Amino acid sequence: MNSRLVAARVLSRVLQNGQSLTAALDNVVPAVDAVKDRAFVQALCYGVCRYYHRLDFILSQLLDKPLKDVEVKSLILIGLYQLQFMRVKPHAAVSETVAAARKKPWTKSLVNAVLRNYQREQERIEQQADQEPSAAVSHPRWLIDQIRQDWPQQSAQLFLENNRQPPMVLRVNQARTSREQYLRQLAEHDIGATPVAFCASAIMLDKPVSVDMLPGFDQGLVSVQDTAAQLAAQLLDVRAGQRVLDVCAAPGGKAAHILESQPQLNELVAVDIDAARMQRVNENLQRLKLEARLLVGDAAAPETWWDGMPFDRILLDAPCSALGVIRRHPDIKLLRRDEDIAQLQALQKNILSAVWPLLATGGILLYATCSVLKRENELQIQAFLAEHSDAAQVPIDAGWGSPREFGRQIFTGESAMDGFYYARIVKQ
Ligand SMILES: C[S@@+](CC[C@H](N)C(=O)[O-])C[C@H]1O[C@@H](n2cnc3c(N)ncnc32)[C@H](O)[C@@H]1O
Repeated sequence: MNSRLVAARVLSRVLQNGQSLTAALDNVVPAVDAVKDRAFVQALCYGVCRYYHRLDFILSQLLDKPLKDVEVKSLILIGLYQLQFMRVKPHAAVSETVAAARKKPWTKSLVNAVLRNYQREQERIEQQADQEPSAAVSHPRWLIDQIRQDWPQQSAQLFLENNRQPPMVLRVNQARTSREQYLRQLAEHDIGATPVAFCASAIMLDKPVSVDMLPGFDQGLVSVQDTAAQLAAQLLDVRAGQRVLDVCAAPGGKAAHILESQPQLNELVAVDIDAARMQRVNENLQRLKLEARLLVGDAAAPETWWDGMPFDRILLDAPCSALGVIRRHPDIKLLRRDEDIAQLQALQKNILSAVWPLLATGGILLYATCSVLKRENELQIQAFLAEHSDAAQVPIDAGWGSPREFGRQIFTGESAMDGFYYARIVKQ
């Protein structure tokens, strides 16, 4: 099938059905044969989501009335994206996109007319887009307002970073090999990489590669995980003989890292509410040859799964808006709604209060989100500390991120990392 048509079908699922881009690609792309074509479909889909708010504004300037057919609309957005952002030759971008529009007779002429019109009017329309706030930074209006309200100084940089392509970062399984040894293996395979100075397990690749190209991936020598997420294990500071709870654990990246960093744990209990995602924890741990107790359960109702034995460490990597990982999942800008934030904030609060009694005296709870919003981060922790007299903050003294009165914030793109937040709380 024509790869532009495949990309339009993927995007329609996101725009019309609210499906995540990852799920839509998994559903549609296996139909595409050549690896090269798959990479092209992915590039189109990620690119259109990344620049959706700009491209959609441009489209509105080229049409008399909104286009109801979502597949045709997606195809035109794909055409505009190629003309504006890709190295595809303009005449090929137009003719190939028109060729993909074979659904109904009128679609070919419409796609052709809109794309040619854009080529003629490009300069004027791009200037208009620069004047329109949502189009200028390619974010939805509510999110622009939220980010500006929380971070007036950093907002412009955050919008830029959210639209950049993220680096690929590896986590070396230190229970099986050393970072130096693995760097040598990468060099032998001509994969350019550098160690991340402030995170002992992290290696940043010069450019992304498929995991099949990574030496020892199937044997569990290495995993793919952003540096920001790799900071959790060292912050949790787990010791031999301890009992650890990872309470929102799927797909298991941080659980695996904890086990890799401390092979002498008494036990790691990993809980997640989503059984299908828990299956992925199982697969990941098997690949890495690690063991944990896996429980499907609601973190906000520990009485349904807890055996009554306290934990020395709790990691709460809370369900959140994921606004810190927009650069990896640009469809978040299309799918997330303003009203989701208050719901997530309430869920985070419930889970925090519910798991707190499971922590032993002297034990540490690490709260983490991949968000940059204060409501999910420092305000959440401030409120928790105000309501729990036996809880005290353990400040995070580190060479990364920005210290806040409560916890530490990593802004997206800072030291090339995803946007993340950490707070460490001890039970007195
Ligand atoms: C940010 S992800 C966790 C990522 C994971 N810690 C890792 O490093 O791979 C949040 C997880 O919380 C889970 N979740 C959401 N609500 C939950 C609840 N009430 N109880 C337990 N898990 C929940 C989601 O299924 C999701 O897997």
